[in-house]
Amino acid sequence: MEKRSLFIVLDGIDGSGTTTHSQLLTGFLKSKNYKVFLTHEPSNSEIGTLIRKYLKNKDIPPSVDALMFAADRVLHFYTEIKKKLNEGFIVISDRYVESSIVYQSCQSDDISLEWVKNINKFAEKPDITIILDLDPKISLARKSQEHLDKFENSIFLEKVRKLYIKRAKEENYFLLDTDDIIELVQEKIQTVVIKKLKSLQL
Ligand code: TMP
Repeated sequence: MEKRSLFIVLDGIDGSGTTTHSQLLTGFLKSKNYKVFLTHEPSNSEIGTLIRKYLKNKDIPPSVDALMFAADRVLHFYTEIKKKLNEGFIVISDRYVESSIVYQSCQSDDISLEWVKNINKFAEKPDITIILDLDPKISLARKSQEHLDKFENSIFLEKVRKLYIKRAKEENYFLLDTDDIIELVQEKIQTVVIKKLKSLQL
């Protein structure tokens, strides 16, 4: 990838605050006069829209979920993320490859982490990945109980959480406990990002 700006990803279990903190971080960086492009996965593409439907359908095989998420991501990367980075925007993505590595490999013993990485290999690595960590019992309590997606149950999310923590340690991601006042969590995220921007002289 041509070197340009900064690609930041916030990831974590459902209800851990990736959307709220991506939005707050966007506002903060804009207030510092950075050009910021905020995006999310599943994306707004037709594939992303179909994925949202599949999130309500327990009959979709996990391998199909994995392939759909990967297709949506690679499209998202080439048509939006890469373009914006090359235009000098800081890109913040609410979820990215790490969501697939963790969620899809937890869905089935037949889905290996290596395979998920492989089908996502065209989506280039972010500069910073921040994993927001929270007990699923707390994160699920933050959700409307009527419209839960197929992954939003505490047994599955407990498995997902453990793998996020393991991956964060192995990959040196920033792991932040979000069971705290929003402003304090956001301050920690901002500190990580500002440090990186300074080190890159951006
Ligand atoms: P959201 O609730 O953050 O919009 O994400 C939708 C759901 O999709 C959430 O349960 C996480 C899941 N997901 C995956 O399983 N794999 C992926 O690659 C992505 C991006 C999301």
